[in-house]
Amino acid sequence: MITLSRTLGAPTIDRRIYGQFAEHLGRCIYEGVWVGESSDIPHRNGLRTDVIDALRQIRVPLVRWPGGCFADEYHWLKGVGPDRQPMVNTHWGGVVESNEFGTHEYFELLNQLDAEAYINGNVGSGTVAEMQDWIEYMTLDSTSPMAELRKRHGREQPWKLEFFGVGNESWGCGGNMLPLHYANQYRQFQTYVRRYGEHPISKIACGANADDYEWTETLMARAVEHMDGLSLHYYTLPTADWDRKGSALDFSDFEWHETLRQARRMDEMVTRHSRIMDRHDPTGRVGLIVDEWGTWYDVDEGTDPGFLYQQNTLRDAAVAAITLNIFHRHADRVRMANIAQMVNVLQAMILTDGGRMLTTPTYHVFDLYTDHQDAEYVDVPIGALGADVDATASYKDGAYTVSLTNTALDREAKAGFALPAAVTDVLRAQVLGGTSATAHNTFDTPDAVVLSDIAVSVSGDEVTLTLPPHSVATVRVAVA
Ligand code: AHR
Repeated sequence: MITLSRTLGAPTIDRRIYGQFAEHLGRCIYEGVWVGESSDIPHRNGLRTDVIDALRQIRVPLVRWPGGCFADEYHWLKGVGPDRQPMVNTHWGGVVESNEFGTHEYFELLNQLDAEAYINGNVGSGTVAEMQDWIEYMTLDSTSPMAELRKRHGREQPWKLEFFGVGNESWGCGGNMLPLHYANQYRQFQTYVRRYGEHPISKIACGANADDYEWTETLMARAVEHMDGLSLHYYTLPTADWDRKGSALDFSDFEWHETLRQARRMDEMVTRHSRIMDRHDPTGRVGLIVDEWGTWYDVDEGTDPGFLYQQNTLRDAAVAAITLNIFHRHADRVRMANIAQMVNVLQAMILTDGGRMLTTPTYHVFDLYTDHQDAEYVDVPIGALGADVDATASYKDGAYTVSLTNTALDREAKAGFALPAAVTDVLRAQVLGGTSATAHNTFDTPDAVVLSDIAVSVSGDEVTLTLPPHSVATVRVAVA
């Protein structure tokens, strides 16, 4: 039986790995989080109470906004003050965006979640001056044209802006740029992301699409000294085919395993992008920011193809767990990640239907993993807890947290591990499972897939448990 123990110099698992992404896309912002001040749906300052309360439970550390592709056609001035100016959301369904939810509403969302800000700026169709003004509007605490405008709009104090992304997918929807062209654009735009207040703003450069290592090489070679983070986008498609992504609910055993295999490719990409970063940034100052990840299937039948609405099963739970385990393993370089997306879009935490809401299996994985946030990484060699088991562990406040995913569809997995000292208390032992891999929650049966207690047997410093097929569990134990 393997002993899981702390190692000298182990990295901390940054809580920001549990970040969320909320774009003006489909029903993520409107209905998903924002219902407006005059809605019958219970809300606080226009933000729906049920969704906020559920998100607080999983301790959302930060929210990336307003896109995504939307970011590179977003003109922030249209979304502040009493006269909001509508626009067309060309990327996502061609619908009219009212701009009712803008900068002030975003910071109110963060305030209610107790989360940090990560705003993505517009390089694709915006100007340097527009970006600079937005930074001044949000962060300058004195008399200036933009600070005065903010005050006239009802906000006296500046906000704290922790992270600012300079463009999104600039190699694609954000401007179709070539790497060197974007590197130059980045150098120019980031110059005007000024530090007005006492808090520095961490600048994130747009990084690669999946395994585009040339992009990373160029950005690191040409602009490393100007960035605090470099992003990476990678989505898990069951067969890696963008023309036939496959169904979220109706999948075969083969597709289950294939999807998990595609999810595991994240490890190879993070490893190879990190190697390039190591060469240009040997001290590891620049973070790898995986600010879009998750599953992407065909949209639910009958829904707008531009709204990217999909259901969420135990397969998504397994993808979430496997991916978070990879981020833990690379905690020295991966400092932030943002699952796409928070509500009603792609691999969502929450789905809504008018006033109704449900939490997804992915949400419950984030719940199971809350104790890993800001904990010390504890290495679990791949396969050490069983051939079918994908596991991760961490240490915080005198207790070890071990999370285990049984990836087998047709058999239980008996898993056991030892700790460096005797177990004094079992603080948490819960599992997420269901009768089949396609189990999911619906608005009529919102509690079909929820957490339940799992039996754990403890003998001295040893812990054993039996995981049901296609399940994710967490055991947290205090040690002497
Ligand atoms: O998350 C949906 C879209 O996927 C984002 O807008 C874009 O950045 C990516 O291609």
